[in-house]
Amino acid sequence: MNARTYFIRTYGCQMNEHDSERAAGVLETMGYRPADDAEAADLVLFNTCAIRENADHKLYGHLSQLKPLKLTDPGKQVVVGGCLAQKDQGAIAERAPWVDVVYGTHNLARLPALLRQADSAALPVVEIIEQTEAFPSALPARREVAHHAWVSISIGCDNTCTFCIVPSLRGPEKSRRMGDILAEVRSLVADGVSEVTLLGQNVNSYGRDLVRRGEIAAPGRRNRTLFAELLHALGDVDGLERIRFTSPHPKDFTSDVFAAMRDIPAVCEHLHLPLQSGSDRILRRMQRSYRAHRFLDLVSEARGTIPGVAISTDIIVGFPGETDEDFEQTMQVTAAAAFDSAYTFEYSRRPGTAAVDLDGHLEPSLVNVRYRRLAARTRELAGASNARQIGTVQELLIEGPSKTDARRMSGRTRTNRLVHVARHPLARAGALVPARLEEAASFYLLGAVTDAPLDAPVGTPLPAANVPAR
Ligand code: 5AD
Ligand code: SF4
Repeated sequence: MNARTYFIRTYGCQMNEHDSERAAGVLETMGYRPADDAEAADLVLFNTCAIRENADHKLYGHLSQLKPLKLTDPGKQVVVGGCLAQKDQGAIAERAPWVDVVYGTHNLARLPALLRQADSAALPVVEIIEQTEAFPSALPARREVAHHAWVSISIGCDNTCTFCIVPSLRGPEKSRRMGDILAEVRSLVADGVSEVTLLGQNVNSYGRDLVRRGEIAAPGRRNRTLFAELLHALGDVDGLERIRFTSPHPKDFTSDVFAAMRDIPAVCEHLHLPLQSGSDRILRRMQRSYRAHRFLDLVSEARGTIPGVAISTDIIVGFPGETDEDFEQTMQVTAAAAFDSAYTFEYSRRPGTAAVDLDGHLEPSLVNVRYRRLAARTRELAGASNARQIGTVQELLIEGPSKTDARRMSGRTRTNRLVHVARHPLARAGALVPARLEEAASFYLLGAVTDAPLDAPVGTPLPAANVPAR
């Protein structure tokens, strides 16, 4: 008999990409094999996101598309897991009663048992639990690409950002033991992985809960934070070429992490530092405890300490109570930080978060006008940052064939710039190759593999004139 096949659709963040790889690993240990698309698959798993409302709409849209297939082929299994499942719980099974299994953010390991239960159940099997002791990394994985791996260093979040649903879905912060992280990374490297991305909702508060519970002594050796300590330990893993991490919180950022990024060859010159808003008044309403000046000081320190560093960010437009003046401050801080890339979002109302009860919710049309202005500005900054790299030779880690042009391969620089190069015998998936960067757009560069020596990435100067007055 042919093996049953599966297809996973992932919404949302890198945490979810990581969970999906684990879900694939779990399904493969059950004997399932990958299918090319949802139509062909015997089992379709939706790994959902709850962070913004449009993720809800997308899921329910995709579920409706699947309904006729499920009705003609009752053997087809439909599984919904992850953040939106955790948030909506029984509601998913009510709105889409043709699903077989609904599970949350803490019980992926239970998937085989839930699928077996569903085999003999007339109604959807729904299991949502509030907390777990297990890290998803402890489950088997089927990685999308052979040379890269996500590694979770903590799960959950202890912050109280008023816009964010995550703490209520992923629970309080829980750090993974350093020894377990190192052991996983060593075995990944032995398996051919050369790049890891460390994942946590708030990576630079890593280990605080371990100290609180007395599991490790504080502070770390040499007075370093435990996160810097972890970077140093990973920097000593032979064969690990690139270390990335996401996301740090500006309020917890410490100089030892900048020093680690400068001193550890494997740690990439890329920093993702979420701004959220450039207005102190809005930051206060968001319960983000840093202020715009502190944020810009961090940006200056990063650019001053780590040669060539690229800085990306997340910004929310239209938070309740945001005035024109608040928004102009976001525009000013954006220009002053000269972000190398940015993810910009329109504020999305998430029932269950504190922001829902704030006054001053804005008209969507006003939010959209502001959003388009900010997005245009960040696109311009990204294009300028990429243009500064033209003519330099930088190391690419080749990811695979370009998604838009079969004649090219795509890779990333250490600064996380996407580069498409013409096919070349050396440009194989997983290879590290020098490429000369020749043309720039806002979201990618074009280049060619070369045997010329590597240049340093070109850093972004701070436009001092734009820094708002203190
Ligand atoms: N509305 C819009 N954007 C949000 N984010 C988180 N919650 C919301 C929300 N309610 C954004 C933040 C965060 C990123 C992952 O998603 O910018 O950093
Ligand atoms: Fe990731 Fe947050 Fe979306 Fe969950 S709600 S998938 S943690 S972005």
